[in-house]
Amino acid sequence: MIKVGVIGVGTVGSSVVKILRDNRDVITARAGVEIEVKSGVVRNLERHKNSALVLSTNPDSIVNDPEIDIVVELMGGVDEPFAVVKKALLNGKAVVTANKALLAYHRYELQDIAKDIAFEYEASVAGGIPIINALRDGLSANHIESIQGIMNGTCNYMLTKMMDEGVAFDAILQEAQELGYAEADPTFDIGGFDAAHKLLILASIAYGIDAKPEEILIEGIEHITQDDIAFAKEFGYAVKLLGIAKRDGDEVELRVHACLISKSEMIAKIDGVMNGVSVIGDMVGETLYYGPGAGGDATASAVVANIIDIARSGKSAPMLGFDRPLEHGLKLKAKDAISSKYYLRLQVVDKAGVLAQITKLFGKHNISIETMLQRPSDGKYANLLFSTHIALERDIQNVIQALETMDLVNATPTMIRIV
Ligand code: HSE
Repeated sequence: MIKVGVIGVGTVGSSVVKILRDNRDVITARAGVEIEVKSGVVRNLERHKNSALVLSTNPDSIVNDPEIDIVVELMGGVDEPFAVVKKALLNGKAVVTANKALLAYHRYELQDIAKDIAFEYEASVAGGIPIINALRDGLSANHIESIQGIMNGTCNYMLTKMMDEGVAFDAILQEAQELGYAEADPTFDIGGFDAAHKLLILASIAYGIDAKPEEILIEGIEHITQDDIAFAKEFGYAVKLLGIAKRDGDEVELRVHACLISKSEMIAKIDGVMNGVSVIGDMVGETLYYGPGAGGDATASAVVANIIDIARSGKSAPMLGFDRPLEHGLKLKAKDAISSKYYLRLQVVDKAGVLAQITKLFGKHNISIETMLQRPSDGKYANLLFSTHIALERDIQNVIQALETMDLVNATPTMIRIV
């Protein structure tokens, strides 16, 4: 009998308990041993007074319990779970977590602490999609060329609604929250931070790269308006928040931002709250993983899969899938050295010579225009929509800064990268 303690019995934790009970037959057959949740930890006992579990408010009741084999950490946050998980590992207990923020900051320290004690985290990226397993095990023969993922269901739901139903940004956020996908603080979702945490986890497995969220380019979807959606539709693009990890020689670029992506790409067809991750390996080519990225049962499905895996063998491969440098000399590419095609939206004074001044500025900064569209607005201002050929991030940022200081440019320009 394998005994489990669940720290954090909220939506996902309750689903873990339910799945282990309701799917006992297949779980026991697959694990080769019975698995039982012995106890749980919650913040507020009063709110859980009808629970059938033995509950306490102190994580030590689980991490110091000699009968517990596997600690499941579902508390959220960074510092507190780090202390709890560290203690559990030092006490020799296997750990399963769904906590992407914890891993975005502490994955390498945790790998060092865990050594050959099992530490699994499938649910931390794209909820129910077994992407960690695919990348760490199924694709382990490959050099990874790139990863592109829709890894935040809240943003994807909002962008899909804006695209399909013409709904304005502010009106949809509340809907996404009511569906239960959004983080407690939704700026984590719409600001791109949740997707960035997930990207950093995948990039460690793929490239062995050790970067913190502060070191990579992270932008959200707050600036997207119906003008941008209309441009996207006119030119055959979908608008998606993507996490991108891409190898370029001995550098790896890591970035999260809204993208215009051709509607013919597979990843552009992933709509609503669903997540999707495309991985290109040098031997396998492109593989695509699709499924629910959030929600109690879908996330718990991944947590329980990790529990079963640990119950089978008692240990796992090194947490990140390697125990020596993965690829020598790979470095994080500087944010301003990234290159891309860009879309820019400007609101300008509608009078003679304005367009000439703007295009002259583009030329001065090595930006070559690919398409241009002018939309008349209220008689005073016009909307100019540009797409560019491939340009350097530092050049486009310089152009945006220069545009901001021009009197004939009314509002802050909007920029979206084109994939
Ligand atoms: N807030 C996340 C999302 C939940 O919207 O995808 C899963 O990490």
